Amino acid sequence: MQTLRFILASFVALLSVSVSLSTSLPLEEAFNHCLELHYKTPNQFSSSIYTSTNGSFSSILESTAQNLRYLLPSVPKPDFIFTPLDDSQVQASVICAKQLGIHMRVRSGGHDYEGLSYVSLIEKPFMLLDLAKLRAVNVDLAHNTAWIQAGATIGEVYYRISEKSSVHGFPAGLCTSLGIGGHITGGAYGSMMRKYGLGADNVLDARIVDSSGRILDRGAMGEDLFWAIRGGGGGSFGVILWWKIKLVPVPQTVTVFTVTRTLEQGGSKLLHRWQQVAPKIDEDLFIRVIIQPGNGSVPGQRTVATSYNAQFLGGANRLLQVMKHDFPELGLTSKDCVETSWIKSVLYIAGYPDGTAPEVLLQGKSSSKVYFKAKSDFVREVIPEKSLNTLWKVFLQDDGPLMIWNPYGGMMSRIAESATPFPHRKGVLYKIQYVTGWLDGEKSMEKHMNWMRKFYFYMSPYASKSPRETYVNYRDLDIGMNRKNNTSVIKAGSWGYRYFKGNFNRLVKVKTKVDPSNFFRHEQSIPPLATCKKG
Ligand SMILES: Cc1cc2nc3c(=O)[nH]c(=O)nc-3n(C[C@H](O)[C@H](O)[C@H](O)COP(=O)(O)OP(=O)(O)OC[C@H]3O[C@@H](n4cnc5c(N)ncnc54)[C@H](O)[C@@H]3O)c2cc1C
Ligand SMILES: *[C@@H]1O[C@H](CO)[C@@H](O)[C@H](O)[C@H]1NC(C)=O
Ligand SMILES: *[C@@H]1O[C@H](CO)[C@@H](O)[C@H](O)[C@H]1NC(C)=O
Ligand SMILES: *[C@@H]1O[C@H](CO)[C@@H](O)[C@H](O)[C@H]1NC(C)=O
Ligand SMILES: *[C@@H]1O[C@H](CO)[C@@H](O)[C@H](O)[C@H]1NC(C)=O
Repeated sequence: MQTLRFILASFVALLSVSVSLSTSLPLEEAFNHCLELHYKTPNQFSSSIYTSTNGSFSSILESTAQNLRYLLPSVPKPDFIFTPLDDSQVQASVICAKQLGIHMRVRSGGHDYEGLSYVSLIEKPFMLLDLAKLRAVNVDLAHNTAWIQAGATIGEVYYRISEKSSVHGFPAGLCTSLGIGGHITGGAYGSMMRKYGLGADNVLDARIVDSSGRILDRGAMGEDLFWAIRGGGGGSFGVILWWKIKLVPVPQTVTVFTVTRTLEQGGSKLLHRWQQVAPKIDEDLFIRVIIQPGNGSVPGQRTVATSYNAQFLGGANRLLQVMKHDFPELGLTSKDCVETSWIKSVLYIAGYPDGTAPEVLLQGKSSSKVYFKAKSDFVREVIPEKSLNTLWKVFLQDDGPLMIWNPYGGMMSRIAESATPFPHRKGVLYKIQYVTGWLDGEKSMEKHMNWMRKFYFYMSPYASKSPRETYVNYRDLDIGMNRKNNTSVIKAGSWGYRYFKGNFNRLVKVKTKVDPSNFFRHEQSIPPLATCKKG
């Protein structure tokens, strides 16, 4: 610690040098120069700075960017990309960006719904700190823990755990290409949430670069900041370098199934029943519903197909007993059930074709990319069957609509609302995610965006109220940002309360303490109170 402080002190002394240089040099050169001054091994950095004239710039920018909407030519691009190779390079880049006044975006897995990790709509110039090369996963079975580096995907984490043990797992996202740097900062839910809670609920420690360029672990950062980074959303408090996670037990045999019913096959009645059953059923069982347009019984007729897609932490026999007792309406049979290992159930839920080898997870890549817009709701009261019957009409007005209904209850309702910044706990029956996707770029964008806003408005009577809760990991820039002054975001009804409820106030307090100059910022970052005072 003593040495670290000494090194930091000399950093600060050197910083004045680079500041004066910055006035005459192009931004990336000033940045590079600053890094060389502040990093132990000079001349290492030029190999990882990519300007827009560099042939690799686009492929690196596009590599993990998940929403094609934020790669359109009209969308601002970073002035340069820096891909650090170790923790102290991340540290140096924060120090240098701050000194040179370069606005920084931080990217781990690039799955942000509004591209906030690689696009700034509010400030120019900006740089991209891309952590894709930092992806170590060190599993320690003896202690049921793992240290995982921010650029690793959650699929890599699952794979590395399963490589060492078939009876350990981790409860986080369903989509295996998510970067854990961004994913866990917003909560991280998946098929084991009803049993074990969120990824963020199972974090034991972290290493973070704060706005002063210090590397801090849990002990050094203190419990307020450690609380804030486990659900307060990415890009507000610092750069997460590592998470230390707690592994959870999983059985040798788990069972998965997908059963689909169209409206003609009683889909609405069944979905009405699911709302009452799924949040209360055995915690080993997670049944989500994937809702998409489907083919009706008459050729050419469009209907809605509801797919009950499930993971059960146990064998098929016990699953069938649970279903017979609590959800006989689905009519699950042993033929629908697939017994498999936990890691293969991960592949199944993520949608990989049958028989895909788990090694696919090591590619750390997403399977497909589209242009999309999404939103989310938390539902606290059962939607009547009659209302379901009418909402399908609005749903089918879009040509690429998708809804995923995801049950809560179990462990989710036993963790206090203020235990982490993620507040959607007791009383939530399920979460709805709305997605509209398309492939023809700008051409049909407006049509899809308009439909999404209309459908979301249509759903408001059924959603949670005061505030209408929303999942921060499903970023939505439509939600109430008044940029006239930076205090207005603290008013109820704005995105802060909708993502975090009462926890927003504490997040603002932590932010004010750890990053008063608001170095880590984006369109919906937690604002410090100090920005209102202007010094
Ligand atoms: C196809 C798809 C499927 C999804 N499935 C799930 C799911 O099953 N469960 C779930 O909970 N969520 C899911 N999500 C949402 C996902 O959790 C969020 O988009 C999450 O923020 C992605 O993390 P990332 O590192 O990939 O994203 P990024 O775009 O890299 O980052 C997201 C945000 O975090 C910030 N950030 C990134 N890295 C760091 C870091 N190291 N330190 C500090 N801040 C950082 C970024 O600046 C940005 O604000 C899904 C998203 C997509 C696109
Ligand atoms: C692109 O940038 C990389 C990393 O800085 C560098 O190694 C490479 O030579 C550059 N290529 C071109 C064509 O400028
Ligand atoms: C619906 O029918 C079309 C044309 O027959 C087919 O291409 C498509 O795959 C079908 N969709 C579903 C969900 O069965
Ligand atoms: C609000 O905060 C942003 C940074 O997040 C800053 O650039 C802007 O100047 C602030 N606006 C006011 C009015 O203080
Ligand atoms: C910010 O705006 C709100 C509402 O318009 C107002 O009540 C408040 O006084 C403003 N704050 C500042 C610092 O201007």
